[in-house]
Amino acid sequence: MSPLLIIFLLHMTTGATADLRTGYYSGVCPKAESIVRDVMKKALIREPRSLASVMRLQFHDCFVNGCDASLLLDDTPTMLGEKLALANINSLRSYEVVDEAKEALEKACPGVVSCADIIIMASRDAVALTGGPGWEVKLGRLDSLTASQEASDNVMPSPRSNATFLIDLFSKFNLSAKDMVALSGSHSIGKARCFSIMFQLYNQSGTGKPDPAIEPKFREKLDKLCPLNVDQNVTGDLDATSVLFDNQYFKDLVSGRGFLNSDQTLFTFPRTREFVNQFSIDQEGFFKAFVEGMLKMGDLQVQQPGEIRKNCRVVNPKNN
Ligand code: HEM
Ligand SMILES: *[C@@H]1O[C@H](CO)[C@@H](O)[C@H](O)[C@H]1NC(C)=O
Ligand SMILES: *[C@@H]1O[C@H](CO)[C@@H](O)[C@H](O)[C@H]1NC(C)=O
Ligand SMILES: *[C@@H]1O[C@H](CO)[C@@H](O)[C@H](O)[C@H]1NC(C)=O
Ligand SMILES: *[C@@H]1O[C@H](CO)[C@@H](O)[C@H](O)[C@H]1NC(C)=O
Repeated sequence: MSPLLIIFLLHMTTGATADLRTGYYSGVCPKAESIVRDVMKKALIREPRSLASVMRLQFHDCFVNGCDASLLLDDTPTMLGEKLALANINSLRSYEVVDEAKEALEKACPGVVSCADIIIMASRDAVALTGGPGWEVKLGRLDSLTASQEASDNVMPSPRSNATFLIDLFSKFNLSAKDMVALSGSHSIGKARCFSIMFQLYNQSGTGKPDPAIEPKFREKLDKLCPLNVDQNVTGDLDATSVLFDNQYFKDLVSGRGFLNSDQTLFTFPRTREFVNQFSIDQEGFFKAFVEGMLKMGDLQVQQPGEIRKNCRVVNPKNN
């Protein structure tokens, strides 16, 4: 094999673990970050919830074989992608906001900015534009050539999860219990379906009884929102101020008003309760821990070949 070919192959196979750094596009596409920010501002005006929906994409992308936009690939006749995985089907939304950013970026600098980086930038912007902290993101990711429904099903947690399970799961990604609690604070914005809470409302842990941790007045409200025979696509706010990124989520947990079981469990279990208490009285402390968690999650990569997709929903056609 020629040395050149070897170098080429090495580049191909280590592609998706490129060195990430801040300001990555400042030379090749200086407006990249402001283009994404503008698309997110428009999305905020069109539909405030879409910012939460886009931010959630970072979690569901990065936990499945790293932050490589595998999540965004549509199914093909030969590949079952992640969009229809258990945690995503009828639930993940606002893919069109990412498409809009990609279109604008392809106009400004064709073939330069990866879909994986768009998710990271847009998630950062979603938090900043809803009242949360801002931060510098490291960029330079490549997009995957494939996606796996099974990989997503094997990893993404259920809303029924308890804190012990979540601590263990996040530790596999080198995220601490504190990171996990702070990142759950993303539920400060957005909504969830009745589908996600029927179990804890009516059959907590298969006991046939409701979750005793739910505060009675809040419980009444949930019963009205999600009666047993409800259309399970009906949605409710994840916290009491669901278009504002703040520490209300943690105050709600302290008073027994967590929407998902996976939320309320963070207060129920002693190992995570101290962090919930802390964040509920210290918004700056929450913001700082949240940013740390998002940066660590954004660093998740696996060794796989990659490319800069032209369309985030499909791998580039092979034309040579
Ligand atoms: C700790 C484990 C987590 C579990 C079990 C979990 C589970 C869920 C569930 C079940 C929903 C509602 C889905 C539906 O009913 O359609 C949801 C919504 C959401 N999740 Fe999580 N999540 C977790 C962590 C995270 C993390 C780490 C992030 C981001 C950093 C995140 C961001 C969001 C956002 C923003 C929404 C609202 C989305 C919208 O309104 O469209 N979640 N999550
Ligand atoms: C937490 O969830 C795990 C996994 O579902 C389960 O095995 C464990 O018993 C639960 N722990 C408690 C204390 O409920
Ligand atoms: C976690 O950290 C260890 C030690 O630094 C490293 O070997 C491992 O690859 C990391 N795991 C992930 C999922 O990043
Ligand atoms: C509650 O859950 C358990 C375990 O999943 C199941 O066996 C039982 O039938 C459920 N009860 C109701 C009323 O749904
Ligand atoms: C929720 O909406 C989706 C998509 O519109 C639909 O396919 C699904 O059947 C609905 N689920 C329920 C429980 O109504």
